[in-house]
Amino acid sequence: VLSGKCPFGGDRIGGSFTTPPTLEEWYPGRLRVEMLHQNGPQADPLGPDFDYRAAFASIDYEQLKADIKAFLTSSVAWWPSDYGHYGPQMIRMAWHSAGTYRIADGRGGAGEGLQRFAPISSWWDNGNTDKSRRLIWPIKQKYGNALSWADLMVLTGTCALEIMGFPTYGFAGGRRDAWEADNATYWGPELWDPTAPQSPDAMVTRDKRWRGTNGDPDYDLENPLAASHQALIYVNPEGPYGSGDPLASARDIRITFTRMAMNDEETVALIAGGHAFGKSHGMVKADRVGPPPEIAPMEAMGLGWHNPEGPGFAEYTMTNGIEGSWSPDPTQWDNSYLENLFRFEWKQTRSPAGALQWEPTDPDAPRTPDAHVPGRTHPLMMMTSDIALKTDPVYREICERFLNDFEYFTLQFSKAWYKLTHRDMGPKERYLGPEARIEDDLLWQDPIPPVDHPLVDEADVAALKADILGRGHSVSDLAFTAFSAASTYRNSDKRGGANGGRLALAPQAGWAVNRRAAPVVETLRAVAADFNARAAGGRKVSLADLIVLGGCAAVEVAARDAGVAVAVPFAPGRMDTTPDLTDAESFEWLKPVVDGFRNYVDDGFSEITRGRVAPEQVFLDRANLLALTAPEWVALTGGLRALDLNHDGARHGIFTDRVGVLTNDFFTVLTSMDYEWKKADAAGMSFRLDDRATGETRFTATRCDLVFGVNAQLRAVAEVYAGADGHERFVRDFVKVWDKVMTLDRFDLRV
Ligand code: HEM
Repeated sequence: VLSGKCPFGGDRIGGSFTTPPTLEEWYPGRLRVEMLHQNGPQADPLGPDFDYRAAFASIDYEQLKADIKAFLTSSVAWWPSDYGHYGPQMIRMAWHSAGTYRIADGRGGAGEGLQRFAPISSWWDNGNTDKSRRLIWPIKQKYGNALSWADLMVLTGTCALEIMGFPTYGFAGGRRDAWEADNATYWGPELWDPTAPQSPDAMVTRDKRWRGTNGDPDYDLENPLAASHQALIYVNPEGPYGSGDPLASARDIRITFTRMAMNDEETVALIAGGHAFGKSHGMVKADRVGPPPEIAPMEAMGLGWHNPEGPGFAEYTMTNGIEGSWSPDPTQWDNSYLENLFRFEWKQTRSPAGALQWEPTDPDAPRTPDAHVPGRTHPLMMMTSDIALKTDPVYREICERFLNDFEYFTLQFSKAWYKLTHRDMGPKERYLGPEARIEDDLLWQDPIPPVDHPLVDEADVAALKADILGRGHSVSDLAFTAFSAASTYRNSDKRGGANGGRLALAPQAGWAVNRRAAPVVETLRAVAADFNARAAGGRKVSLADLIVLGGCAAVEVAARDAGVAVAVPFAPGRMDTTPDLTDAESFEWLKPVVDGFRNYVDDGFSEITRGRVAPEQVFLDRANLLALTAPEWVALTGGLRALDLNHDGARHGIFTDRVGVLTNDFFTVLTSMDYEWKKADAAGMSFRLDDRATGETRFTATRCDLVFGVNAQLRAVAEVYAGADGHERFVRDFVKVWDKVMTLDRFDLRV
């Protein structure tokens, strides 16, 4: 200003808003609490009142499908369709959109259209899906906000299957787009240099995510990952580290597809089904191809992987590096993929891009047409990951069944495709559209029977609360039980939660972290039986509802005892499900490894994480899966400590002499300088709190307690609740977040 120049002008601008280095670069390993506020209302141009359900219902669904199908058999000059058909590339786009899902934390998947954003948009494995999305932009534009990108991508893949002769199982809309990149999901430890040539060769270097080597008995992939390599959806098509070894490839396929919640039969159905269509593209060496979309030059307008060869597309296309098609008729659903895989012997060869692939040894094997040049044909192609299906004995048996029974194969593929593309949507209440197949109960949907009786009324609720409170369980035990049921919810794939009453079923009933709930559950069963035997008008209450109601009653008492009268909301309508409707194996993935809310750290934690992840980081992960903001996380934990929700009766974090009363003592102690914190073990997992004046140890704590005083963002909120004016605010905020957690899975209330 003094020089008369704009202070931000001149020739010496070294940076601007957001220019690195970032906080993470300055302070690696800092707890990124701000990640709880990703994709918030500020990023959403449609605003909080936008009703996607209503908007989607306004679409002429048949017309939409007709529009998609008309597009699929067209071709545009800037990216001509292979074989005059965009179907195959759209199936791949949809599969890659859904295929990021992993069961360990429920993240990934097609649910938010995250393929549009980095890093996924720019993963090497998503090469040229940027073109696929641009090709369908006119359809997105026509339907506007009534059709999310996430829904459009899946529906386009599904329509593609349909017009190539495949009878699909169904399609549900209801996926709501994210509006910004997901900057928080852990995609693996390796730094993938996005400026380096993106090719399978880059994956020949060893990944850090595997334990052991492919031959070891304890060979395994670190959690929560479900891809064998950074920047891939699943496995390297050329075999692990480009080895060309089909058996080793099968092993990686089994591990990664299991992590996607697919069994062997579903895995074979998906791969053999998907590769009945289309082709792979490998006409140009990878080092000739430009950078991915996220770092492509400005004039590329968000597209990546510029290919300098010829026009850069059609018969010059370079995507993955492997070249060719699996089938003589790549735009028609038939069984020729499996027929040819088994009828012929296959030998290794290289694509023009240099990638390892396989072709029939028999020169008389059928050939596949060129995708663009009339009259030209090529040998059939298989990837090492395809040969794997024939080499692995279990996959082989499944293939043989599919070979002998095409109808059965077709049905299995249609169901697996439906599961693949809907797995992360949660309860069927979220499904939209006329083809959603709501009437079917599929085990992976974690079915809960529909409400089949009149619900309890206000007087019943009051009487039931009194009944529960009169049965001798402490406020702590009742709250513990309700929280244990509700807190399995994960907002990633909308699984878990109190509805269904699964706390009383295997495997949850047997988890060590839930042990304290068992006697309460027994009592609540008796309360339900009593009520259901005598209530008039057929009114009934489920165990699931009572588990939550017990917690609500306990919180009310705890607030009243702290001098704040609040009504804790309760909405009946939960139902109890059955063991038959519970996929125990799949529920096991919901078992917490660290649950800071109940001060639980699994015995195997440090072994599992190999010391790389601190408990408070996994606690942050849980807070995110519970869809909590930072203030909610702080209020909730402070209240749970006041109520003594530790899973094992340990005193860690119970900074109060009035246990079971909703005081703000947790925060006043946490922020007080009257105390001095000391490590209580060598690893720094537990701590003691000594009075500075007397030297007396007053309290003990874990990392999941102290983090609220250590981390500056969390501490700022803790100070609000520790202030002289903070107590009532704390109680009211706690009740709000308690109710939020109790109803996270109640999509029926939000319809
Ligand atoms: C194409 C690998 C599973 C559907 C491809 C390509 C590769 C590949 C490398 C070529 C991409 C290109 O260069 O254009 C794999 C591997 C799999 C797998 C390693 C798992 C082991 C699946 C599944 C589906 C599927 C489960 C769908 C259900 C397709 C389709 C194409 C394709 C339709 C053709 C795309 C086009 O014509 O442009 N796959 N895939 N794939 N994949 Fe897969």
